Amino acid sequence: MKILGIETSCDETSVAVYQAGRGIIAHRIYSQVALHAEYGGVVPELASRDHVRKLLPLLASVLKEAGIGEDGPAAGRELDGVAYTAGPGLAGALLVGAALGRSLAWAWGVPAVPVHHMEAHLMAPLLEARRPAFPFLALLVSGGHTMLVAVERPGDYRVLGETLDDAVGEAFDKTASLLGLPYPGGPALEKLAARGRPGRFDFPRPMVDRPGLEFSFSGLKTHAATSIRDHVAGDSESDRADVACAFQDAVTDTLAIKCRRALRQTGLRRLVIAGGVGANRALRARLQEMADAEGVELYYPRLEYCTDNGAMVALAGCLRFAAGARAGAGFDVRARWPLAELEPITFDVNSLLPA
Ligand code: KG4
Ligand code: ZN
Repeated sequence: MKILGIETSCDETSVAVYQAGRGIIAHRIYSQVALHAEYGGVVPELASRDHVRKLLPLLASVLKEAGIGEDGPAAGRELDGVAYTAGPGLAGALLVGAALGRSLAWAWGVPAVPVHHMEAHLMAPLLEARRPAFPFLALLVSGGHTMLVAVERPGDYRVLGETLDDAVGEAFDKTASLLGLPYPGGPALEKLAARGRPGRFDFPRPMVDRPGLEFSFSGLKTHAATSIRDHVAGDSESDRADVACAFQDAVTDTLAIKCRRALRQTGLRRLVIAGGVGANRALRARLQEMADAEGVELYYPRLEYCTDNGAMVALAGCLRFAAGARAGAGFDVRARWPLAELEPITFDVNSLLPA
């Protein structure tokens, strides 16, 4: 079984093919970062237009890489379904992927399968040879979301805690911007922080002294702004690096404390990091340290499967296709779509993963 996956929920255009029992056989990502950089953030209308421009050329190269449709345009005979991200995300951007996905499925005579973007992030670790068994605890950290999720099985998600204000990625991006770093700030701030002196500034760990698994990151951004105003001399690189380092330490420490609390509360023994901020090496190291101390196994996908990508959409689409999910007759994408609305997948998904 081969499923095409299309991702256009934000500023990455990506297409992939997942083959059941084998894994990803073709994958391309086009990042719009350069387009949005001069505006300091994603401009939704520009994102939609760029998806329109890039999606068909990406599709052509992915089909070629997968060796699909080489004998002519009847690619559908070699594909079993077309999955696309139907939400949550930017409505206009989602519509571009949905329009192409639905049209291809119709033209090729195969089912179209809507995919939940966060479910795709949660399933991304299954793309790796060293993958977690179920159940596991997932820390989902991206530009739009910060959640702790108990994953009983695919589709069975219990959100244990979320952010009350900024998502972690958003806090990285905003703090990076205060430090004069280019968009997207997360990777740039990580680089700068690596040159900082740990301990020069001491940032608070928000909400760790209260019970519960909620997060709040907007205060850290304010703390960074105050530190910059009071202590950064001119455009001193080393002062800015110290602030970046203190901010990153506070974020990674806070996430590790909440993950440990959630592991202890649920009794889960596996922790998965998913979402764009999962690319942060300091976060991975901090969580590894905590997991080792707790005797818990830590899993995370490779960097290109952490940030938005079509591979995770093709995999989640394959699981949903096998579970019988099909797009309705309407043309619907959902800018908002709570994870809890998804149906649990009851069959053993290992049969669709590489042996
Ligand atoms: O999952 P993702 O690609 O898109 C969303 O669904 O939001 O996450 C993007 C977010 C951005 O805020 C970006 O700054 C952040 O992930 N990010 C990082 C790193 N790489 C990406 N944050 C911190 N350190 C990184 N290395
Ligand atoms: Zn994402």
